[in-house]
Amino acid sequence: MDRILVKGNGALSGEIPISGAKNACLTLMPATLLSDEPLTLTNAPRLSDIATMTELLQSLGCEVTSLQAGQVQAMSSHDLNNHKADYDIVRKMRASNLVLGPMIARLGHAVVSLPGGCAIGARPMDIHIHGLEALGAQIELKEGYLHAKAPSGLKGAVVDFPFASVGATENIMMAATLAKGTTVLKNAAREPEIVDLADCLRKMGAQIEGDGTSEITIQGVDSLHGATHPVVSDRIELGTYMLAPVIAGGEVECLGGKLSLVQSFANKLEEAGVEVTETARGLKVKRTTDRVKSVDVVTEPFPGFPTDLQAQMMALMCTAEGESVLEEKIFENRFMHAPELTRMGAEIEVQGGTATVKGVARLKGAPVMATDLRASVSLILAGLAAEGETVVSRVYHLDRGYEHVVRKLSGIGANIERISGE
Ligand code: EPZ
Repeated sequence: MDRILVKGNGALSGEIPISGAKNACLTLMPATLLSDEPLTLTNAPRLSDIATMTELLQSLGCEVTSLQAGQVQAMSSHDLNNHKADYDIVRKMRASNLVLGPMIARLGHAVVSLPGGCAIGARPMDIHIHGLEALGAQIELKEGYLHAKAPSGLKGAVVDFPFASVGATENIMMAATLAKGTTVLKNAAREPEIVDLADCLRKMGAQIEGDGTSEITIQGVDSLHGATHPVVSDRIELGTYMLAPVIAGGEVECLGGKLSLVQSFANKLEEAGVEVTETARGLKVKRTTDRVKSVDVVTEPFPGFPTDLQAQMMALMCTAEGESVLEEKIFENRFMHAPELTRMGAEIEVQGGTATVKGVARLKGAPVMATDLRASVSLILAGLAAEGETVVSRVYHLDRGYEHVVRKLSGIGANIERISGE
């Protein structure tokens, strides 16, 4: 397995291009199932999760081509010949469950494996299931697979989410585009990836209003047509790279970054003593003091502090002046990076969903192990600031969500390289 070596190399400077959003692309791709005309996505990131979604759509009979040059994902589901999403693919990536809503809406039936748990939590699908049942789908769990059918099509309804689930909002919004009548989603998720999906669905002929707020209204239509849509910039990649000059010193411009995508995160950074400036090309970030101040963090659904930036923020707080408390309220087990950071000299105490971090003046490089996607990159950030060499193993976690991480960080002066292993 490959490893990544990072050596603390002092202040960083230069520009980092931000790629298209993994979590937008993973919900935009299944939207191709809603129409028999081609859907083309530009600015699609080249990531292993995207390859997994490609494999899943192809297993359903979709044609998916990714043209290297413009990273275009051209997809067509004209000849859907399989309505079963196999466990072998779904277990690799929970977002596979986003084919459920579109398949029921388009085909009237679907068999989708339950994703099973993952490193950060059990990640059930009850909110997805109740939402689709409200639209008239009959869903049964048999041998680990959800068997869903809607023989007489879906009917619009009011769906009140008990929790603003991102995936459930995406699944039900996609299904509702082809339902008869009006659907209203209450307590819907407000993430920018939801707005990006709604923009794409509108280009395909869907009638959607209110995306980005907690109440979304969808008027069902008879069919959707093809479209071309650019994948929105990745706010989690953006937040991650914003932290590079903050933890290691220096000044970096994240090209394509927009403050509106990371407002609550940027507010926290400013509280810690960081200057974030919006420029014509993106976001410029620099520390204004030798050491950032500790700040407290509570993860919440958008527009709150993103859970997907919690691990990265913890790495920064390990080097901050003072004590910070990080509360993880979205997932039940998302502190697996803490023991790895402790190997680097960090002082972290975890009690259930709360981690208390006492900042230290300098972390020390060490061999550490990536445990999940965002934990892996928090270890790299720590390595940028640590004295000596940090070796991060199991970097396949990283390949799921960060395109060209070594190239991008080397481009701003980081001493980082990837060692291929067996
Ligand atoms: C999306 O996951 C993202 N993934 C996650 O990013 C992100 O952390 C999460 O939203 C929260 O922002 C993609 O977009 C592909 P949820 P999703 O449904 O849709 C519980 C990354 O690192 N829940 O909002 O699965 C669930 O267990 C990934 O890029 C139910 O209980 O998130 C979790 O505790 C990690 N029942 C919480 O809600 C359900 O039916 C948030 O889940 C659905 C969810």
